Amino acid sequence: MAILPRCPRPSHPLVGLRCPSRRPLLGAVASALVGSACQGAGGGPGVPRLPSVVDPASPNAAALASFTWLLHAIMALVFTGVLATLLYVAWRFRARPDREPRLIFGNTRLEIGWTVAPALVVLAAFLLSLYLITTVDAPPSAAGAATESAGPPLNVVAIGRQWWWEYQLLEHGVVTANELHLPLGRPVRLELRADDVIHAWWVPQLSGKRDMIPGIANVLWFTPLQAGVFGGACAEFCGIQHAWMRIRVVVESPQEFQTWLEQQARPAAPPRSPEAQRGEQLFTAVGCAACHAINGRVQATAEAGPNLTHLASRATLGAGVLENTPENLARWLRNPQDVKPGNSMPATALTSDQVAALTAYLTELR
Ligand code: CUA
Repeated sequence: MAILPRCPRPSHPLVGLRCPSRRPLLGAVASALVGSACQGAGGGPGVPRLPSVVDPASPNAAALASFTWLLHAIMALVFTGVLATLLYVAWRFRARPDREPRLIFGNTRLEIGWTVAPALVVLAAFLLSLYLITTVDAPPSAAGAATESAGPPLNVVAIGRQWWWEYQLLEHGVVTANELHLPLGRPVRLELRADDVIHAWWVPQLSGKRDMIPGIANVLWFTPLQAGVFGGACAEFCGIQHAWMRIRVVVESPQEFQTWLEQQARPAAPPRSPEAQRGEQLFTAVGCAACHAINGRVQATAEAGPNLTHLASRATLGAGVLENTPENLARWLRNPQDVKPGNSMPATALTSDQVAALTAYLTELR
C-alpha cells in the first residue's frame, strides 16, 4: 500500500516527489483547477483523499468551495469578455492600405467605465469574502451547521513543530502525533499553536487554512460530514522539510472514534517478546527517552519529539515521509537524517542488533 494518495495524473503537486513529472508547472496548474478530478483516485482503505478545495466534506469547506467557483465564474466572464473585445477590435480596426486611422484623444466616459466596472467587481468579491470569513470562522452552532444531537464540540489542540504535528485531546488524556481521528457530524474546535516557527494547518476538504503562530492561539471550527481519510499539508513555508508535514485526518463513526479515543488514552502495555523487552531497556539507555514519552512506561526528559505511546497504530512515520512498517521503522532508526534531512532527531549510532530490538519494541506499541 502506498502511503501517498495515488492519482491518475502523476503530475499532481502532492505526489510530485514520488511520481516525477516532466511538466510539473502544468501539472500544478491543472491540479489547482480540477483538483476534484483526483478525488478518491487512490481507492483502498487508508489512502487519503487528495486535498482539494472543490471537494468539500464540511459546511465551511462547502462555503469556501462555492466561493471558489463563484470567483472562477467571474474570472471566466471577465476573461471571455476581454478576449472577445480584443479579437473584435483587432478585426474591426485592422490595417487597410487605403485608409489612415482616425486619431482619438481621450474618451472620458469610456475611461470612467473601465475604472468603475473592475472596481465594482473587486468590491463585490471583497464584501463576499468578508461575509464568508465571518460565517466560516463562527462556531458551527452559530453558523447553523451543528447537529444538536452530535454532542458538545470536540476540543483538539494542534501544535505545529519542526516538522510534525502534535495533537492533544486534553479532556480525554490523549496526546498523539501526525494522525488525527475525528467523529462524523460532531463540531470540532481546533486550537492551532506553534512551537518554533510559523506553520499552517490545512485540510482543504474540512476547512480553510490557518496559520499556527508561536505565542498565539488561532482557532478553526468545522464539522466533518463525510467519513474517510483526508490528506492535508503544512501551508506555510517552515524550513527544509516543510513539504514533509503531511496531515492525516480520519473521520469515522462516533463509535469507531470512541474506540480510537479509548485505545489512545490507555497507557502502553508492557513489552511481550524478549526482544521487545530488550528494546524497552535500550529506549532509555541509548537516549530515546530524552525526547519521546511512552505513557505508563517511559517518561521523557523533555517532550521534544512525538509521543510514541501508540506509535504502531499510526499509518505513517515522520509526518507522512514513510509508511509505518517494521522495515521503515528500522530504516528511520538507523539514520533519521537520511530519511528526513534536518529533522530534530540526531543521527543515531545504533548497531543493527539494537535497531532490531527497538523496532520490536516500538511495533508492539499499538
Ligand atoms: Cu510546517 Cu511548513
